[in-house]
Amino acid sequence: MSRLVVVANRVPDPREGGATAGGLAVAMKDALAKRDSLWFGWSGKTAEETGTEAAQVRHGSTTYATIDLGHDDYRHYYQGFSNAALWPVLHYRLGIARFDRRDYGGYTRTNAAFAAALAPLLRPDDTIWIHDFHLFLMAAELRRLGCRQRIGFFLHVPFPPRSVFNGLPHAAQLLEGLASMDAIGVQTEDDAENLRGALIAGGMGEAAMRVGAFAIGIDAAGFASLAARRVGSKDVVRLRDSLAGRSLAIGVDRLDYTKGLPQRIAGFGAMLERFPRHRGKITFLQVAPVSRGDVAQYRTLRRELDEGVGRINGQMAEPDWAPIRYITRAVARPTIAGFMRVARIGLVTPLRDGMNLVAKEFVAAQDPVDPGVLVLSRFAGAAVELDGALVVNPLDPDDIAEALDVAMDMPADERLDRWSRMWATVRANTAAAWCRRFLSALEGHEAVAEAGS
Ligand code: G6P
Repeated sequence: MSRLVVVANRVPDPREGGATAGGLAVAMKDALAKRDSLWFGWSGKTAEETGTEAAQVRHGSTTYATIDLGHDDYRHYYQGFSNAALWPVLHYRLGIARFDRRDYGGYTRTNAAFAAALAPLLRPDDTIWIHDFHLFLMAAELRRLGCRQRIGFFLHVPFPPRSVFNGLPHAAQLLEGLASMDAIGVQTEDDAENLRGALIAGGMGEAAMRVGAFAIGIDAAGFASLAARRVGSKDVVRLRDSLAGRSLAIGVDRLDYTKGLPQRIAGFGAMLERFPRHRGKITFLQVAPVSRGDVAQYRTLRRELDEGVGRINGQMAEPDWAPIRYITRAVARPTIAGFMRVARIGLVTPLRDGMNLVAKEFVAAQDPVDPGVLVLSRFAGAAVELDGALVVNPLDPDDIAEALDVAMDMPADERLDRWSRMWATVRANTAAAWCRRFLSALEGHEAVAEAGS
């Protein structure tokens, strides 16, 4: 079997194991373990200049190869074009995007630097799989350097309608970059339609045929058993005791404006206002580790949340009960799994999300005898698959409030029926299955459009 080369801006730390791994590292675990592999990307560190030669560490069957980012590239490629321009636009938020020619310059320069540092490490029969929006231009750069290997690309975030995407300066160049890929995966059929539409309109109809929808999954059995094991751990017992018999609603998200956190908190407040019988009967725990804290829009959001949580707690709390508990530190995955298992309600209400693996993790974490209820945004990719959720409009706090009221009163048989349907889906479409489907399309065993979905 040929070697698998994974390229992503973030490279997992091989020493940290599963406890802090991101969704992609978890999803790739099986594929990487089964064959010789190389994971290439940013070291997470900055230096005077962007590295030209990758530092390599071998762990099991995988080599991790990383380069530092120069201060300028960190600012213009990562903070600037990737996170202040592409991220909002891909999440349908043209209005808050910031454009700057120097940012795009940093983006092109860094995609070229990644390609130049990776090229000497490549073998002729490698299969290359590039991930996410940071690296739209990388395949084109590799081709310029003479690389002939198969190159696939997966976009983890949404792809908006062409009218939104075209608001990006350099939209055409980004699409041309994508057209250099041999297979292009996105999360949902809507994303695939949008991307095909943009490519066709840009005169790249042939590349449009290489786009397919491949919904990413989780290690369902692994997360379920983690949750079952952790439910007796010190942290989870402490949380459960502190609830004093009240129901728990839980939200777990990076502190990001796409996650709909202010609306979610307002929705929780509206539920307590409109359905006062739930007051003192439910506690909402929101875990929102700070993310991209040096990008302006994220700092504004943090202030807004501090204020929103403070306002609702100030208005509604009793001496022995605060409605919202809010944590901006990271909480380890196993602990989160245990917290989810004791929760009656999972709140996953992003304004827009490629997939949202937290929704699938919440389903996997439930006790099959007494499962909780998932309240899910209709704008998360996961809503296509998870038809047992209470689906809400995340922009509308009253809709969230009404779903919370329904969830609080939902009888056990309905909870079980809804959860069983979702669990069947989560268990069938695992991370390992997602990986296999994409790689089989990329390696030419099936047409991309048929292999997806
Ligand atoms: C999203 C993106 C990933 C990114 C992650 C964390 O899930 O799709 O590509 O790595 O957020 O963001 P960060 O900027 O810390 O890498």
